[in-house]
Amino acid sequence: MKDKTFLMIPGPTPVPESVLLSMAKHPIGHRSTEFSEVLKRVYEDIKTMFQTKNDVMIFTASGTGAMESAIFNLVNPGDKVLSLIIGNFGERWAKIAEMKGAEVTKYEVAPGEAINPDEVKKLLDADVNKEYKIVTLTHNETATGVTNDVKTIVSLIKEHGAVSVVDGITSLAALPCKMDEWGIDVLISGSQKGFMIPPGLSFLAASEKAWKLHEQCKNPSFYFNWKQNRKSVLEASTAWTPAVNLFVALDTALQMMKEEGIENIWNRHKRLGTAIRAGVKAIGLKLLVKDEKYASNAITAVLPPEGISVPDIRKTLKKDYDIVVANGQKTLKDKIFRIGTMGYVSERDAIAAMGALEASLYKLGYKFELGAGVAAVIKSLAENK
Ligand SMILES: Cc1ncc(COP(=O)(O)O)c(C=O)c1O
Repeated sequence: MKDKTFLMIPGPTPVPESVLLSMAKHPIGHRSTEFSEVLKRVYEDIKTMFQTKNDVMIFTASGTGAMESAIFNLVNPGDKVLSLIIGNFGERWAKIAEMKGAEVTKYEVAPGEAINPDEVKKLLDADVNKEYKIVTLTHNETATGVTNDVKTIVSLIKEHGAVSVVDGITSLAALPCKMDEWGIDVLISGSQKGFMIPPGLSFLAASEKAWKLHEQCKNPSFYFNWKQNRKSVLEASTAWTPAVNLFVALDTALQMMKEEGIENIWNRHKRLGTAIRAGVKAIGLKLLVKDEKYASNAITAVLPPEGISVPDIRKTLKKDYDIVVANGQKTLKDKIFRIGTMGYVSERDAIAAMGALEASLYKLGYKFELGAGVAAVIKSLAENK
């Protein structure tokens, strides 16, 4: 049915109608007082989502732009970087660092696993000469539906003395991520996830320690330059011509998030993630995450039942029920499907998605107790107020 499509992929996520309407206007001049007022609000309000007092730079670029900004403003060729990898997006940090000429040590675990902080401690203790300048990691690995224990890992990195660089692209505005309290040095995110606006903006905040390391960076990037972009934050301006309408959308979305409250946003994601996992398990499907303690409340990665293919599940969900879920990426392609519960997602959406999943599997010939998934979702939502 036309215009009925509901995205339950892990980004882009659904955009509230009020946000869409706020964008559907002529762009305003990016050097105007009117736009400067928007920027003042946005630069201030976005700090809550980062749980930081640091300035948050905003780039007209997808999330990878902020990743590149982090590495290119910190790393000199030959610097030693430790990359903690639990999936495709953790691997991207290592690739960018290698491109900047860093000597990258990768610590990688199997898909579905989280980083064990004890292993991080061993790796950092072994670096007796404190050669690692930075350690990269992903808070919420979108590729596998696993959330790392960033708080503990970052405290270990702090003890070692390296700068922690954290991808919060699918954790910010969805899962608790407390930059200042946890001592994260560089934290990045992107617009098309928990922030409930279309793709096109990315965000970066850096601690004083990270700024000191930046001072030693001989050839930082131009477009993503930290000094240039922070100067703009302080002047309620932008370094270059920004995606004006996306900033307006962000302003509207941040006001919505302020009304809901950050704790309530985190709680909503927790309830929805927990409910979807309960539903999936109730119909006999397996989660990719090995230990549910590390299960993401923003993305659930599910193994298909034997004999039923991921493309068939996705096709039926889309064609018959207008719900879009994601395939696995790279080596996980056709091995898992991923259900996003990130951003503008409500209880109704979780119940509907589970109902549509059951209906699709039923049509595809999977034998299970029809209704068990929806019942588990409803019960879980009721029990976890
Ligand atoms: C955890 C994570 N990191 C990085 C990225 C890359 O962001 P983008 O595709 O916006 O460049 C994504 C995108 O899905 C992501 O989920």
